[in-house]
Amino acid sequence: MTAIGMFDSGVGGLSVLRETRRLLPDSRIIYVADQAYGPYGDRTLDDVRRRADRITQTLTDEGAAMIVIACHTASAAALHYLRARRSPLPIVGIEPAVKPAAERTATRTVGVLATTATFQGELFSSVVSRFAAGTKVIARPCPGLADLVETGADRSMIEAALREHLEPFRGRAVDQIVLGCTHYSFLGGLIAELSGVQVVDPAPAVAAQVERVARQNGLDRGGSPELRLLTTGNPHSFQERVTALIGLTGEVARIDI
Ligand code: DGL
Repeated sequence: MTAIGMFDSGVGGLSVLRETRRLLPDSRIIYVADQAYGPYGDRTLDDVRRRADRITQTLTDEGAAMIVIACHTASAAALHYLRARRSPLPIVGIEPAVKPAAERTATRTVGVLATTATFQGELFSSVVSRFAAGTKVIARPCPGLADLVETGADRSMIEAALREHLEPFRGRAVDQIVLGCTHYSFLGGLIAELSGVQVVDPAPAVAAQVERVARQNGLDRGGSPELRLLTTGNPHSFQERVTALIGLTGEVARIDI
């Protein structure tokens, strides 16, 4: 039991994996992309919670001593549930980065892009009430956007989708845009360019938290550094996306969960 287990509906969590590998180059990491069931954003929170539970079980069976939910939607659906059910297994999740955005905004107006399911979860309303008192938070659900990243859609399609999703922020003094889905981390530069607004990407802060928890649990040195990339979908297309998004080649395998 010496590995860090990490999962997402697909390639979005690779944004967290990339930052984590920078901070913990000697750790063993097992990453599961649940591509056969993704995207999660249009599923019910109950459905996503069931998947998160099964994947967590698989990751611990494979030797994970800590879990990272590298997905806002799965965190919204299952973070509290899994912490209670799997205690004392350390579990790091992601909440929309409303707190840093509320601290930085000069106009007291921030925009949040996330999946429909993430906005339905209690985690989102709880971060807004805890950290954004006195700040106007404009929530924009973006159905279909994660899938464009997942499948590697071309730039013109992504740009067209983003222009539509950024529309509600125009003319409303938004000066921070929170990326509330790990897939959107790969669009941060484009979102900043199209909107002219500062983007808040949670991936580095989540990776820093993963590093803290991993060190507390002795998982910063797994013996032999190793990265296993597993997908419930097609390993060949997953490998291509991994290479395109984070420049890693490595062993990718299919897993039935
Ligand atoms: N990457 C995910 C998130 O952070 C899920 C996107 C999806 O599967 O719809 O919310």
